[in-house]
Amino acid sequence: MLGSATDEFLRAEQASQFILERASLRPRIGLVLGSGLGALAAGLTDPLRIAYKDIPHFPKSTTEGHAGVLALGTLESIPLAVLQGRAHLYEGYSPSQVVVPVRALGRMGVRAMVLTNAAGGINEEYSRGALVVLSDHINLQGQNPLVGPNDERLGLRHPDMTDAYNAQFRQFVREESEQLGGGVFEGVYAAVTGPNFETPAEIRFLRTIGADLVGMSTVSEVIAARYMGMEVLAVSCVSNMAAGMTGEKITEEEVLETGERLASKFLALLRAVLPRIAGYLEIRASSV
Ligand code: HPA
Repeated sequence: MLGSATDEFLRAEQASQFILERASLRPRIGLVLGSGLGALAAGLTDPLRIAYKDIPHFPKSTTEGHAGVLALGTLESIPLAVLQGRAHLYEGYSPSQVVVPVRALGRMGVRAMVLTNAAGGINEEYSRGALVVLSDHINLQGQNPLVGPNDERLGLRHPDMTDAYNAQFRQFVREESEQLGGGVFEGVYAAVTGPNFETPAEIRFLRTIGADLVGMSTVSEVIAARYMGMEVLAVSCVSNMAAGMTGEKITEEEVLETGERLASKFLALLRAVLPRIAGYLEIRASSV
C-alpha cells in the first residue's frame, strides 16, 4: 500500500541500494543545494553524477534553478553526497516524496545533512544577500513527512525536535564565518507551502510569531533527517526581503540571481565548515 511505513522504508532502501551499487564513495555528509545555489556542486572533485530521474522513487524537480542531480564527490578531501535541487510541496509532491532523497542518504550511511535554501528575510536586521544559519523552525505547511504508520527501522513515532539544528555545527559556522570576514546571522525559519510569495499581512503575522525568515522548503527534510538520527545544519540565503518590507515586488529572477551572486561566498563558508563537521562525526564515532 503506497504511503505505508513499510513502503517508506522500502523506497529509501531501494534508492539507497541503487546509488551504492554505482558509487565507490561512502559519504557521511549530505548537502542539499537550494534555489540558485547549484553552482556549489562545481567545487566537487571527480564527481559521479546521477540524475534524479534515474534513481528509483526520487522526485523529479520541476523548479527552475533545481538541476535534479545527485553528485558524489569530494570537497576539501571530504566525501560528500550533494543533492543538486529538491522537490517542493508546491509542485504537488507529498511530504514523504519530498524527503525520499534525504531518507535514501540516511540509509546510505550519511550522518549529517547540510541543507541550503533561498528565503525571504523578515528580520529587519537582514538585507538581501545575507546568510542566516537556522536555529529553529516553525512548520506552517500543515503537512509532515512522518504522518502515517510508523516504521521503527527508520525512527521513533514521536521524535524530539528540541535540538533539531545541531548547536556545535552552528558554532562552527559562527567561528569560520568570522575568519572569512563575518556577516552570518542566526534565525528562525517559517516554512509555508507557497507557491505564491506571502502577503504583507502574512509577513507581519510571521514576524509576530517569532520568524526571522520565510521559505517553502527545508523543514520536511529537517524532520525526516532528525527522525533518522542525522545531525542537521541549515543555512538560508536571504534572496529578497519579505513582502511589504521594501516597497518592491518579489520576483523569481531576484531569488535566483541572489543565490547565484552568493554562491562563491557560500562555497567558501562550506569549504571551511565541512572539515569541522567531518571532525565532529569522527569524534562521535570513536566515542561510541
Ligand atoms: N517567501 C517565501 N519563500 C521564499 C521567499 C519569500 O519571500 N524568497 C525565497 N523563497
